[in-house]
Amino acid sequence: MGGLGKMKKWMSITLVSILAAAMLSACGSDKNEGNNAGGAAGEEKVLIMGTSADYPPYEDIDVATNEIVGFDVDIANYIGDKLGYKIEVQNLDFDGLLAAMSSDKVDFVMAGMTPTPERKKNAEFTDIYFDAKNTIVTKKGSGFKSLEELAGKKVGVQLGSIQESAATDAGNLEVVPLGKIPEIIQEIKSGRLDAAIIEDTVATGYVAANDDLEFNTIPNEGESGSAIAFPKDSKLVKDFNDVLKEMKDSGKMDELVKKWFEKK
Ligand code: ARG
Repeated sequence: MGGLGKMKKWMSITLVSILAAAMLSACGSDKNEGNNAGGAAGEEKVLIMGTSADYPPYEDIDVATNEIVGFDVDIANYIGDKLGYKIEVQNLDFDGLLAAMSSDKVDFVMAGMTPTPERKKNAEFTDIYFDAKNTIVTKKGSGFKSLEELAGKKVGVQLGSIQESAATDAGNLEVVPLGKIPEIIQEIKSGRLDAAIIEDTVATGYVAANDDLEFNTIPNEGESGSAIAFPKDSKLVKDFNDVLKEMKDSGKMDELVKKWFEKK
């Protein structure tokens, strides 16, 4: 091999090792339940939390800092702190969260997500950490108080949510699934949707911020409440459950509930 050939070979080896190093450090954000645990001493273990930051007070983008904040984020950080993980939050559409976890793009999902039998086929959930009810959000004065009253109406729901299932199961609504909650709110305000089905604590915030809207709580059908999702057989479920229990016992959970649900 001539000088140039050797040079080329050397360069490609160098390139390969640079690439390998880059890949290694990219994997540093351990997608496989803290493989970093076995990493070099002092190295920080990272867990990536997938969420859909359109769901205040669970998770929302703080316009001042552009950071994702909320009840879920505080809980995740508290648990991460106890277990020795730094939590990195990734904002995705709600509908894509469990798929992102299956393909290892995120380590766990925390998004006010309800553990349904369907979701449990591909994920393992912690205990429920907060309960919720569904509501009908409409323009003020519409007065819809049950799914029956919405027969034939255009009803917005978040794509892939239990609210979408509830609306579809009602059988007689024109269900309009959308990616993010603010889009649904906008469509009601502009009159393109007659109503939406949204969780009570979340509806409260959007209605408070839009005085042309109102909401009415409807009875629960099926599962409700939020839990944290992990890949099947993840060892972290037990660790997270232990800390969730400690948070309930110590009053930490109440403190966060007060902070996020009883503000204003
Ligand atoms: N609790 C509902 C569900 O599990 C809706 C959750 C939506 N969460 C969000 N971050 N947008 O389907």
